[in-house]
Amino acid sequence: MPGRFLVAEGIDGSGKSSQVERLGHWLPCSGLMPADAKLLVTREPGGTPLGEQLCPILLNSGLTLHSRTELLLFAADRAQHVETRIRPALREGHWVLSDRFSGSTVAYQGYGRGCDLELIHTLEQAATGGLTPDLTLWFDLPPQQARARKPPSQQDRFEGAGSDFTERVAHGFRKLAMERGWWRIPAGEPLAAVEAAVQAACRSTFVD
Ligand code: TYD
Repeated sequence: MPGRFLVAEGIDGSGKSSQVERLGHWLPCSGLMPADAKLLVTREPGGTPLGEQLCPILLNSGLTLHSRTELLLFAADRAQHVETRIRPALREGHWVLSDRFSGSTVAYQGYGRGCDLELIHTLEQAATGGLTPDLTLWFDLPPQQARARKPPSQQDRFEGAGSDFTERVAHGFRKLAMERGWWRIPAGEPLAAVEAAVQAACRSTFVD
């Protein structure tokens, strides 16, 4: 693929989304991207019209979803995202920055919910068609610090699932980061230091 694919992963409250926004402003003027490349900033779930409809069902509907149903809905969201937005942009030489990707499914549905990891890997392959990020930024923050950042009234189904669940998800991310060679961002530092770490990761990965 001529374009480059960057992903941000981490537990809820790790500060990932605001850093994605900052990176979305910095990257196009960083000198790292070719002059004619654009940056697509997107997210999972919800990066497509289908995803926007799935989001309320997945996050806030109050419906009781079986863990395997939840897994399949995230996979459907991802397949649509990869085939209709990410891959076409990369093929054109554009860069894509996604707030969450398939690592989140391994961490949340696998380690968090206890879905079978073999099944998740099979579905990951089906949903991504083998597409893997060029750089995954892992925002590493202890769950108790992350929890303190968001009041219960603003929490979605996953954030409200309890501290044991979040601990399992955080453990999943840590394990994945080691296995898949993700770039660790110490997310407990002041905002500017976290931003500097993100930029350093991009420079090291993409400077020829
Ligand atoms: P999040 O990035 O936290 O959105 P927001 O910043 O709007 O809260 O993602 C929404 C939730 O979806 C988050 O709690 C993690 C969960 N999720 C999964 O459980 N599996 C997945 O595959 C993905 C992509 C997200």
